[in-house]
Amino acid sequence: MLFKLFVTVALCCTAVLGELTSYEGYKIYEITAQNAAQQELLQQLAENEAYDFFTLPRMLGLSARVMISPEDQLAFERTLQSSEVKYEVINENFGETVATERMQNNFFRNLRSSSSRSVSFTAYQRYASIEAYLDQLAEDYPSRVSLKTIGKSYEGRNLRTITITNGDGIVNKKVILLDAGIHAREWIAPAGALYVIQQLVENFAENSHLLQDYDWVILPVVNPDGYEYTHTNTRMWRKTRQPITLLCTGTDGNRNFDYHWGEVGASSLSCADTYKGKTAFSEPETKALRDLMLTLTGRAKFYLTLHSYGNYLIYPWGWTSDLPDTWADIDAIAQVGADAIKAATGTDYTVGSSTNVLYAAAGGSDDYAFAVAKIPISITMELPSAGNGFDPAPAKILELVSETWVGIKAMAEKLVETY
Ligand code: ARG
Ligand code: ZN
Repeated sequence: MLFKLFVTVALCCTAVLGELTSYEGYKIYEITAQNAAQQELLQQLAENEAYDFFTLPRMLGLSARVMISPEDQLAFERTLQSSEVKYEVINENFGETVATERMQNNFFRNLRSSSSRSVSFTAYQRYASIEAYLDQLAEDYPSRVSLKTIGKSYEGRNLRTITITNGDGIVNKKVILLDAGIHAREWIAPAGALYVIQQLVENFAENSHLLQDYDWVILPVVNPDGYEYTHTNTRMWRKTRQPITLLCTGTDGNRNFDYHWGEVGASSLSCADTYKGKTAFSEPETKALRDLMLTLTGRAKFYLTLHSYGNYLIYPWGWTSDLPDTWADIDAIAQVGADAIKAATGTDYTVGSSTNVLYAAAGGSDDYAFAVAKIPISITMELPSAGNGFDPAPAKILELVSETWVGIKAMAEKLVETY
């Protein structure tokens, strides 16, 4: 007991001192359930907080990935073996992957710095340089770009949107609302949002048809505290950074929205990765996004939220396996995105309702946007991983974000001609 207390205190204080999580000896397993019983076992294992499931699709045939610490590997493997579940270790030492990624990222980040005014896709950007890019665009394209601070994160960072127009001065156009990075570790998602921004602003001539009747409002990093924390401390951090108890910090932003909040697929344990929060909208970041959505009610026709990973284009409901009446309208748009990507690069995306494709999880921003903010097309896009998890190598960023843009552009084109 005393020992346990000591260990907890030690854990808490290393966290407070801000030590790096090394992930030394952590393994990543890929598991494909062969039948419903095995699928059920995986769902049960996912409830164990020690097992970090990166993806756990419900649809048979799609594989799950889970990260396990050295101390838990033996028991975990035994459990799988005793139920004859087939698995493969796809990463023998995640610590090495994280270290390599950090080195590459720092190298490429330092390499560019002063040279270009534009954003670079050779490394994942720190929050400060994302903000600097937005500022740069506002300065260079004052007639088409405006910035707004819609709130502050728990740690006091500015939550900033960029509104992109065609500069014709017509107000109250329809809106496409895009966000990314509600989950801290999904680095490719903010990179994807930055690429969309770059295309719409710096490559305006080619994309002006997407800005004729629509303005785009983009919040590229919903959770900057978490995002920075994954750069400085713990690569696999998912949540916000507001402390909950003495020992546990953070709320899953995508379980914190007030629509069937906490009913399913969200944890009440503050240490859990899918912690729903003390109350709905307990987080300043989700409040700010909520208010943004609500001010756009009526104008916003398309809400797209970028996550990683798994190649999914999913839509409401996330809280029930039922489908909304208008599901076919959303499905049609998502399908256009999937088809465009398939044609361009061969990458497969799975399209469907998020409960049916992945799992039931209430309190997501997509359900709220659709049900409460009345945005008729609401889609969560889970970008590809191209590697071990949330960590596509820096060398893959450009390839991935330009592929993502192909899908987003196709969906936007379809939207613009239909709505
Ligand atoms: N991977 C995402 C998450 O777990 C999927 C969210 C889908 N939407 C939903 N409302 N459940 O947050
Ligand atoms: Zn996510």
